[in-house]
Amino acid sequence: MSDEVLTTEPQPEERPFEESLRPRRLTEFVGQTRLSTNLGVFIAAARDRGEALDHTLFFGPPGLGKTTLAHIVANEMEAQVHVTSGPVLERAGDLAAMLTNLQPGDVLFIDEIHRLPAAVEEILYPAMEDYELDLVIGQGPAARSVRLTLPRFTLVGATTRTGLLTAPLRDRFGIVHRLEFYPSEDLAVIVARSADILEINMAEQAGGEIARRARGTPRIANRLLRRVRDFAHHLGSDVVSLEATQWGLEQMEVDAFGLDHLDRQLLTTIINVYDGGPVGLKALASSIGEDRGTLEDIHEPYLLQIGLLQRTPRGRTVTAAAYRHLGLDPTGSPGALFDGRKPE
Ligand SMILES: Nc1ncnc2c1ncn2[C@@H]1O[C@H](COP(=O)(O)OP(=O)(O)OP(=O)(O)O)[C@@H](O)[C@H]1O
Ligand SMILES: [Mg+2]
Repeated sequence: MSDEVLTTEPQPEERPFEESLRPRRLTEFVGQTRLSTNLGVFIAAARDRGEALDHTLFFGPPGLGKTTLAHIVANEMEAQVHVTSGPVLERAGDLAAMLTNLQPGDVLFIDEIHRLPAAVEEILYPAMEDYELDLVIGQGPAARSVRLTLPRFTLVGATTRTGLLTAPLRDRFGIVHRLEFYPSEDLAVIVARSADILEINMAEQAGGEIARRARGTPRIANRLLRRVRDFAHHLGSDVVSLEATQWGLEQMEVDAFGLDHLDRQLLTTIINVYDGGPVGLKALASSIGEDRGTLEDIHEPYLLQIGLLQRTPRGRTVTAAAYRHLGLDPTGSPGALFDGRKPE
């Protein structure tokens, strides 16, 4: 059960909730202060000049607000948004059709932009840089190429995998923003805001508890809030109290840091198979049977941030805090039970 509540991926049945909880304006967007301040400056400047905003790339782990920001950009620019994604745009013609539909100032949002096929990506270069689109019309000897001029538009790209973006594509974004995991104070504000919108009567301390265990991720925080409400309901209460929250989180096996199954597997594999490390990412990925990029882009950043993992020139190592968190003894044999004493 805990895997499902802690996954950073959106679950299909929570789409309507995500939609209703999504901030529409930059002022409603909690946290990521530097990003939102700078973005606000760029948007105001573009608006004052009556221009489209520069092409903008948002990158970072799932559930931190990339899609939300893409829509906020369109709302703040009072622009029409056209939504698509890398895997959907299979052929160059699919993208050409979207581009020729754009009005001046429109936002074209391409989610998972790292998954654009190369042939599609190539027509994006002149479109982004010169607002031009080369189309081949007809077939065989009668085929001819025409050049269309596109209106000034803003491409907003989102990706969890900036490492996979080609350099020419990345270079064509004038604005590049990385989203960071949220500190629990920011998540507490997000949970309180969501409770308001969903008309959930929640004790402030309950919000704090959810925030601390939400893996730095608004999507998870919002999900935990909805599940904890069910536990409160089960206890016969309309109020999400701290007690109901703690009980619910325990029932769902949400650990103190909100680690998911793969986070834990990553740590235990380094401990049990590689004696705590260091181990290279490639070897680690094959031991776990997981994609290297997923470990690098989704799991590692959070474990590094909370100090359970360290990156050294020779590879990844787990910290004493990780042993403690897993209830293991950092000085003993692999897998030995930790007796609760702090390691020296
Ligand atoms: N800064 C924020 N303030 C308030 N709510 C937020 C914030 N960031 C994200 N959320 C909430 O978290 C949910 C997930 O955000 P979003 O869908 O934008 O993430 P994402 O980065 O696009 O994830 P993915 O990589 O899976 O596409 C949204 O429903 C939104 O309500
Ligand atoms: Mg998204």
